Amino acid sequence: MVLWGREREQARIDALIAQARDGRSGSLILRGEPGIGKSALLDHAARSCEGMRPLRGTGIETEAELPFAALHLLLRPALDRIGRLPAPQARALEGAFG
Ligand SMILES: Nc1ncnc2c1ncn2[C@@H]1O[C@H](COP(=O)(O)OP(=O)(O)O)[C@@H](O)[C@H]1O
Ligand SMILES: [Mg+2]
Repeated sequence: MVLWGREREQARIDALIAQARDGRSGSLILRGEPGIGKSALLDHAARSCEGMRPLRGTGIETEAELPFAALHLLLRPALDRIGRLPAPQARALEGAFG
């Protein structure tokens, strides 16, 4: 799908993903009015992750009070790799998820 007029945003996302491929972390906040094209850009990001494992999560208002709900949603598909984390980080995640 072509995203009209979003070359700059897509270039930023592509650079972030290329960097992740090289093992360097990064973050980017997409902000804007409803309908402005945030989800379309996230879909572009997910499509650009070939050979990688993109993880996606959505904040749910009714779960706002549940501790680590969003983190759990985000990391659930990757929990099988918890043993590959350094021990302190693995322990912290195991503690958070019970
Ligand atoms: N740059 C764009 N070019 C073409 N279609 C777009 C573009 N940005 C958004 N759209 C379309 O507009 C609609 C709303 O975009 P969406 O990504 O859902 O907005 P948001 O997540 O910010 O509320 C979707 O159908 C999306 O595919
Ligand atoms: Mg959206």
